[in-house]
Amino acid sequence: MEERKMLLALTLAIFALASADVSKRTIETVLYPDCSRYQSCLDRRDQNASDPNDNYPNLVYIRAMAKKDILHYVMTTVDLPSILMVHTTGSDAARLNFDWDRLLLANNETDMADAINATGGGDIMYTYAVVFSRLIEYNDLHDSANLANVNQSDSSLWNITDFTQFRWMNLTLGQGGKSVIFNTSYPQPKPYGNNTSGSLSFEFEINDDDGRDTDLPRLIYNANNTQFNFVLDHYVPNFNKSRFALEMTVIANQSSKAMQVVETKSIDDEFSPGVFRVVNWYTRGNGDDTGYIQWKPVCYLGPHRARDVGTELMYYNLQEPTKVKGLEGLMGKSLARAFYGEDLSNSKLVAQMSSNVSFGLSEDGFYLKNNYTVWTASVGYGTAPVEAISTTVIIIIAAGLGIPVVIIIFGGIYVCIRKRRNGYQKIDDGLTNSYPNLN
Ligand SMILES: *[C@@H]1O[C@H](CO)[C@@H](O)[C@H](O)[C@H]1NC(C)=O
Ligand SMILES: *[C@@H]1O[C@H](CO)[C@@H](O)[C@H](O)[C@H]1NC(C)=O
Ligand SMILES: *[C@@H]1O[C@H](CO)[C@@H](O)[C@H](O)[C@H]1NC(C)=O
Ligand SMILES: *[C@@H]1O[C@H](CO)[C@@H](O)[C@H](O)[C@H]1NC(C)=O
Ligand SMILES: *[C@@H]1O[C@H](CO)[C@@H](O)[C@H](O)[C@H]1NC(C)=O
Ligand SMILES: *[C@@H]1O[C@H](CO)[C@@H](O)[C@H](O)[C@H]1NC(C)=O
Ligand SMILES: *[C@@H]1O[C@H](CO)[C@@H](O)[C@H](O)[C@H]1NC(C)=O
Ligand SMILES: *[C@@H]1O[C@H](CO)[C@@H](O)[C@H](O)[C@H]1NC(C)=O
Ligand SMILES: *[C@@H]1O[C@H](CO)[C@@H](O)[C@H](O)[C@H]1NC(C)=O
Ligand SMILES: *[C@@H]1O[C@H](CO)[C@@H](O)[C@H](O)[C@H]1NC(C)=O
Ligand SMILES: *[C@@H]1O[C@H](CO)[C@@H](O)[C@H](O)[C@H]1NC(C)=O
Ligand SMILES: *[C@@H]1O[C@H](CO)[C@@H](O)[C@H](O)[C@H]1NC(C)=O
Repeated sequence: MEERKMLLALTLAIFALASADVSKRTIETVLYPDCSRYQSCLDRRDQNASDPNDNYPNLVYIRAMAKKDILHYVMTTVDLPSILMVHTTGSDAARLNFDWDRLLLANNETDMADAINATGGGDIMYTYAVVFSRLIEYNDLHDSANLANVNQSDSSLWNITDFTQFRWMNLTLGQGGKSVIFNTSYPQPKPYGNNTSGSLSFEFEINDDDGRDTDLPRLIYNANNTQFNFVLDHYVPNFNKSRFALEMTVIANQSSKAMQVVETKSIDDEFSPGVFRVVNWYTRGNGDDTGYIQWKPVCYLGPHRARDVGTELMYYNLQEPTKVKGLEGLMGKSLARAFYGEDLSNSKLVAQMSSNVSFGLSEDGFYLKNNYTVWTASVGYGTAPVEAISTTVIIIIAAGLGIPVVIIIFGGIYVCIRKRRNGYQKIDDGLTNSYPNLN
C-alpha cells in the first residue's frame, strides 16, 4: 500500500527552529498513523466511500513542534469524537504509537486500554483529553432553554443519543493539514429516510501561531491551542420545541489540583459584540501550567455569524462522570481509555469531570427556527488567553471620560489664574467673563 499517499506529512516551515521562540510551531499531520500494520485498520480506512452505510474510524495525529517541546494532538471519531493532547519535552523523536486492533476490535473480552502509547524518549510533561459523549435533545415545552428546568423523569421529553450511534464520513483535511473536519450525516437509523442533508460536525483548527479568529466570537488563539466548532446543520429534530445540548468530559493526568470553571467579565465587547463574558474550564486551576477549554457564552444560529444570529450558551456544574448515568461505560470506549488505560479509573492518577453546554435562549424560536447552531471553543495548554481591553477601547474611554476631566481641571486652573490676575472681582463679572453665552 502506498503509505506515502496516506501519511500526509505536511510540514509548514513558517518558523526557523534555531529560534527559541515558542509562539510559533511547525505542524506535521498524519492520517491514520500506523494503519498499514493492521488489517483491521486498512479494511475500515479503505472502505467504499459511496456506500451509504460508510462509517470511517477517522483518526488524525498532529505534532506541533517547537525547539524544546512538542504538543501531540490526536483527534478521532473512533467510537466517540475526542481530542487528546500530550506535551513532551527533551526529544525530537517523541511520538505516539497506535494499536489499531485494540482501537477497533475491542469487544466484551478486550478493550481499548493502552491502544495509544508514547515512545521515542523525552519526558511527558502533561496530558489531557476532551471527550464528547452524547448529543442531548429535549422538548423545551416551557421555553426555558435550561436543562435544569426540564422534567428529568419524563422520558418523552428527551432524546439522548450517544456518539457511538453516529456514522462518520471520511474526514476532510484543509489548510495544509491544520484543519480537520469530522462530519456525520445521521445517527443510525437515519430518522427520516435518506433524502435529508442534515449533519452534525466537529471542525478542528490547529494553531501554529498567535492571533485572533476572524469569525465571531473572535477568540484569541496561540501556538499552544486548538480551536473547534461544533455544528448542527439542518439536523432533523424529534420535537417541535427541540433544543440541543452537548455532553463532554475533560480528563487530565493529575490528582492534586481540582478542575474548575471560571467566568470573567470584561467591559470590552469590541471583538464579539454583545458578549462580555469569557469562560475557562481549567484542568488544574488558573495558572501557567494548566490545560483549559475556553469559550464565550454565545453560539450562532446561522453559518454567517453576526450579532443578530447570536444566542446564548449555558453551561452547568462540573460532575464526576461516574456519577452521571451511563457515562462511565461510554468513557471506556473513548480515546481517554485508549491512552490512560487502567489509570482512567484511578482518581489518584487521573482527574475527570463532565459537564453539558446547552444552546439557545428563551424566546429565540427553538432549534427549528433556523435549523442551525454553531458553537466555538478552544482547547489549549498553558495560560488561557486573556481578553485584555483593547487600545481602541482605551482611546474611546479616554475620549469619553478623560477629555472632560482634563477640560474641567485646566478650565478650573485657568479661571483661578484669571481671578488672581484680575484681583478681587465681583462674582457676576467673573462668570460672564469666563463662560461665553451659549444662546
Ligand atoms: C479520505 O480522505 C483522505 C483525506 O482527504 C483521502 O486522502 C482519502 O483518500 C479518503 N479516503 C477515501 C476512501 O475516500
Ligand atoms: C461503492 O458503492 C457504490 C454504491 O453502493 C457502488 O455503486 C460501487 O460499485 C461501489 N464501488 C466499489 C469499488 O465497490
Ligand atoms: C507501544 O505501542 C506499540 C504499538 O502500538 C507496541 O509495539 C509497544 O510495545 C508499546 N510500547 C510500550 C512501552 O508499551
Ligand atoms: C458480548 O456480550 C453480548 C451480551 O452481553 C453478547 O451478545 C455478545 O455475543 C458478546 N460478544 C462477544 C464478542 O463476546
Ligand atoms: C415529571 O415526570 C414524571 C413522569 O412523567 C411525572 O410523574 C411528574 O409528575 C413530573 N414532574 C413534574 C414536576 O411535572
Ligand atoms: C457535512 O456534510 C453535509 C452533507 O454532506 C454538508 O452539507 C455540510 O456542509 C458538511 N459540514 C461541514 C462542516 O463540512
Ligand atoms: C430518538 O430519536 C431517534 C431518531 O429519530 C428515534 O429512533 C428514537 O426512537 C428516539 N428515542 C426516543 C427515546 O425518543
Ligand atoms: C424527502 O424530501 C421531500 C421534500 O423535502 C419530502 O417531501 C419527502 O417526504 C422526503 N422523503 C423522506 C423519505 O424523508
Ligand atoms: C434511499 O436509499 C435506498 C437504498 O440505499 C434507495 O433505494 C432509495 O432510492 C433512497 N431513497 C431516496 C429518497 O433517496
Ligand atoms: C506554549 O507552551 C510553551 C511550553 O510550555 C511555553 O514555553 C510558551 O510560553 C507557551 N506559549 C504560549 C503562547 O502560551
Ligand atoms: C409540530 O407542530 C405542528 C403544527 O403546529 C403539529 O402539526 C405537529 O403535530 C407537531 N409535531 C410534534 C412532533 O409535536
Ligand atoms: C427547519 O427544518 C424543518 C424540517 O426539519 C422544516 O420544516 C423547517 O421549515 C426548517 N426551517 C427553516 C427556517 O429552514
